[in-house]
Amino acid sequence: MIKIRDISKQFTIKNNVVKALSNINLEILERDCFAIVGESGSGKTTLANIILGIYQQDEGEVLFENKILIKNRSLQLRKLIQFVQQNPMSTLNPKKTIYSTIALPLKIHKIVENNKYKEKVEELLSFVGLESNFMDRYPDTLSGGQKQRVAIARALATEPKVIILDEPTSALDVIVQSKVLNLLLDIKKKFDLTYIFITHDLSVVKNIANKVVVMNKGKIEETGDTIEIFQNPKSEYTKTLIRAIPTVTDEEDATKP
Ligand SMILES: Nc1ncnc2c1ncn2[C@@H]1O[C@H](COP(=O)(O)OP(=O)(O)O)[C@@H](O)[C@H]1O
Ligand SMILES: [Mg+2]
Repeated sequence: MIKIRDISKQFTIKNNVVKALSNINLEILERDCFAIVGESGSGKTTLANIILGIYQQDEGEVLFENKILIKNRSLQLRKLIQFVQQNPMSTLNPKKTIYSTIALPLKIHKIVENNKYKEKVEELLSFVGLESNFMDRYPDTLSGGQKQRVAIARALATEPKVIILDEPTSALDVIVQSKVLNLLLDIKKKFDLTYIFITHDLSVVKNIANKVVVMNKGKIEETGDTIEIFQNPKSEYTKTLIRAIPTVTDEEDATKP
């Protein structure tokens, strides 16, 4: 569904060159939950921004359903790949009600007929487990988990095929985190979605992703089926990451490389 071919990207700040991505090749299939893992600064968000057309790569290309995705892409293509970011505080406009936040993509992409915005926003809120009275509220009256639910509803508004989730639960505490992860899994099933799930947390990957790529300093350490990588990691770097996952039981501990 999405092919990433030989993507490289560097940033130059005051004569300092940072190679954010070097020769990245990946293939994401329809209905994958494809995890991109790696420590902070490994290039995960840069890759997401290139797929979304926010950044222009220096080299390589991104294909969506075998068509090359350019940075300035059509509205129709933009509608199909949506984004949920880590920090809902910075992605939800504090001056806008939840209603106008979710109605905006509906208007831009002309999703609803006969101006039935209110009904559609109500439906989208119900998909993420929020009642319709949330419509009139402002982001700062919502908890972190509720804000992230609104961000998910906004992403669903355009009826996308792919959602890129960039550390969607990293800012949330553990219990809220697992609720939002479960919601994401339900939504994926319900709408037949493909996820690109970015995280620095390997323990989340195990529960949610079927495929994983481990990134380190802008390069691919290894990639493959999640089960395979957890059972038989090839790179030393991946082994170190897996060993660092906190475990609760001795049985869990025994599965570590
Ligand atoms: N807009 C930018 N300008 C300059 N440097 C950037 C920019 N975005 C990312 N970088 C640099 O690229 C590298 C990868 O960053 P990023 O993709 O954000 O990593 P991650 O999401 O894995 O934490 C880092 O060294 C970061 O400082
Ligand atoms: Mg990031």
